[in-house]
Amino acid sequence: MSLGNLFAVLPDEAQTPVGAEVLRGLTAKPRSLSPWLFYDEHGSRLFEQITELPEYYLTRTERDLFAAYAPAILATAAQDSHLTLIELGAGTASKTGLLLRAALNQQPQLTYRAIDVSASALNAARQTLSESFPTLSIETRVGDYTDGLGDLPSRKSPNSRRLVLYIGSSIGNFDPDDARELLARIRRQLAPGDCILLGVDHVKPLAPLLAAYNDAAGVTAAFNRNILTRINRELGANFHPDRFQHRALFNAAHSRIEMYLVSTRTQQVSIPALDLDLDFAPGETIHTENSYKFTPESATALLAAGGFTVTHSWTDPQHWFGVYLATTI
Ligand code: AVJ
Repeated sequence: MSLGNLFAVLPDEAQTPVGAEVLRGLTAKPRSLSPWLFYDEHGSRLFEQITELPEYYLTRTERDLFAAYAPAILATAAQDSHLTLIELGAGTASKTGLLLRAALNQQPQLTYRAIDVSASALNAARQTLSESFPTLSIETRVGDYTDGLGDLPSRKSPNSRRLVLYIGSSIGNFDPDDARELLARIRRQLAPGDCILLGVDHVKPLAPLLAAYNDAAGVTAAFNRNILTRINRELGANFHPDRFQHRALFNAAHSRIEMYLVSTRTQQVSIPALDLDLDFAPGETIHTENSYKFTPESATALLAAGGFTVTHSWTDPQHWFGVYLATTI
């Protein structure tokens, strides 16, 4: 058979990003699915709910850091120059307002570019930010920032710098090599003096770490199972999400939370759009997420590997979350 024929037997849906990832991940052993699949409309709403859970300290702790230190963060990044802000994975930009306010207090004109895969989240961000900050010039770009930053706003003058915001522990989803490559790609689009502000979750005692991913209300479990609902809807599959259990554990050797969906029984699932029939054994897992946890040393080393030097960092009294400001020189 020619190669042309081999490719011809793959259904069209296998060429879409969702179809290709589901085909790859569910035919692999052990099975896995990439966490970007969580974020359809319902999944994005569930994540917003997660950020408000009592157990999910990450969002709250980072927001408190911005509330306390935004003026210091922005002044340190600017060093008396004019800043342009670019946010990766902006979502609804709910924490960003604290940083924008501090920036507008130190310079009258500010351009803020938000990049996200979700157009609806960007529209919500534009709506709320334009109400809170009438003078802010807001640019939105729908897209996958792992492809790079896009057509960056150029430096308006020699005395201007770009500050890339990559907050919310989003980098925690990437394995170390991919995280380094992502930072290096960002670095290559920046000029000397430009900065990145990276928000990372810190290693901490097991109890609060596990609770954050095993909340009592079951929102994280629903978020995890929603990946199966999405596959049902978009690829015509017949998953019974209730026949998969949510599991989150801490892998100390890799310093990461791992999330799984665990099959509670022998079951068969078909995915017509991919021409796929799957057999699940009791206890068989689908690995859906890694969420890496850092120390100040490992965060600094990751940034260095991507070509950035940490100039300042901020943390809470318990050292549960860290915000790292790093420059290209
Ligand atoms: C959006 C990647 C920061 O890792 O904590 C929350 C996603 N997964 N609960 C995280 C998530 C389960 C979250 N990040």
